[in-house]
Amino acid sequence: MAAVCGTRPDAIKMAPVVHALRQCEAFETRLIVTGQHREMLDQVLRLFGLTPDADLNIMTAQQTLTEITVRALEGLDRLLRESPVDVVLAQGDTTTTFVAALAAFYHRIPFGHVEAGLRTYDKYQPFPEEMNRRLTAPIASFHFAPTQTARQNLLQEHIPAEQIWVTGNTGIDAVLWVASQPYEPTDPALRRALHHTGRLILLTAHRRENWGEPMAHIARAARALLERFEDALLLLPMHRNPRVRETLTAILGDHPRALLTEPLDYAPFVHAMRHADLILTDSGGVQEEAPAFGKPILVLRETTERPEGVAAGAAKLVGVDTERIVAEATRLLTDPDAYAQMARAVNPYGDGHAAERIRDILLQEISHSK
Ligand code: UD1
Ligand code: UDP
Repeated sequence: MAAVCGTRPDAIKMAPVVHALRQCEAFETRLIVTGQHREMLDQVLRLFGLTPDADLNIMTAQQTLTEITVRALEGLDRLLRESPVDVVLAQGDTTTTFVAALAAFYHRIPFGHVEAGLRTYDKYQPFPEEMNRRLTAPIASFHFAPTQTARQNLLQEHIPAEQIWVTGNTGIDAVLWVASQPYEPTDPALRRALHHTGRLILLTAHRRENWGEPMAHIARAARALLERFEDALLLLPMHRNPRVRETLTAILGDHPRALLTEPLDYAPFVHAMRHADLILTDSGGVQEEAPAFGKPILVLRETTERPEGVAAGAAKLVGVDTERIVAEATRLLTDPDAYAQMARAVNPYGDGHAAERIRDILLQEISHSK
């Protein structure tokens, strides 16, 4: 068995799966990392005590989608040729994941897709993630859908029902585990945020379709909120992509109540989510995690492949229009009833046991096929 990760969310969501598989003697599980991300991936691997068995180390500054695809495909091809495995597993919608599926297919190795079936059905939103996961689906032999909605999407695409299992999202396994561990903040910015007595707004933004002007709209909205709410502190752990940082720093960098930091390690980030009054984000994973802590979340995107949080009333799609973001955030920060309606802890994405289910399913399916 080979588990493949490349980015921060890949590692967060695959770590519980790797640990669950390694508890089982029937499997010998290799962890292969493409290194599509470097520091942000390594942070997560350290936290979960994982050491890669192979590391393709492909990341370059300002890499293009084609570069990631080619470098990861060549590297994975070589590894699968040198050390064949019986199943390849990867999660979600990153380019590492799509390429892992393709490399497995070229070697006629069954592929297991963790977090299968998420869709917006808009080819360019999110870009390129929507096509990454749609292209992965027909290659996969095992589809681990986090929710019933995801299962329905796969059925609609004629994926055979007997190849789909609703397991919950392994990201919820990860976040509940991290939240249960003792934690003492050491990072000065985070200490300031966690000890702040006024309101704490947590912002993350990195999506390709938000680069440039949409990102500037988001940053201007955050600045307007700081002007309007004098007790508010903005915590903004910035993705390492220079395209993202440039815009956010230009608009928010000089504000005394904007804390622009390096990406937070996963444990501090989870604690920041728990302390935040309001979360603004275009992240996929954060949309799944924030509802678990009863934190209202405004999603800075036009569409989402995670409609369950919106349906549960914990998340609202607000897009990237500055005035709309300010209006929605202001409503939540000034109307206690509106806030209370969104601030109910719900967990539509999983119960914390997804990885064990995936392990048990693989055990059963692989022993049947032998
Ligand atoms: C990638 C995924 C996206 C996911 C996101 C999670 C693809 C195409 N995109 O987007 O689906 O939501 O990760 O964060 O798979 N960088 C660093 N150090 C790091 C990580 C990134 O310096 O640890 C910088 C590099 O300059 C790199 C750039 O960020 O070239 C972009 O990284 P890349 O993986 O191509 O795209 P993301 O926007 O991170
Ligand atoms: N995250 C983190 N540190 C940060 C920001 C986010 O550890 O500074 C975590 C977050 O809790 C979630 C994951 O990273 O589990 C989401 O990653 P990202 O937003 O980069 O990717 P996406 O989920 O949008 O693919």
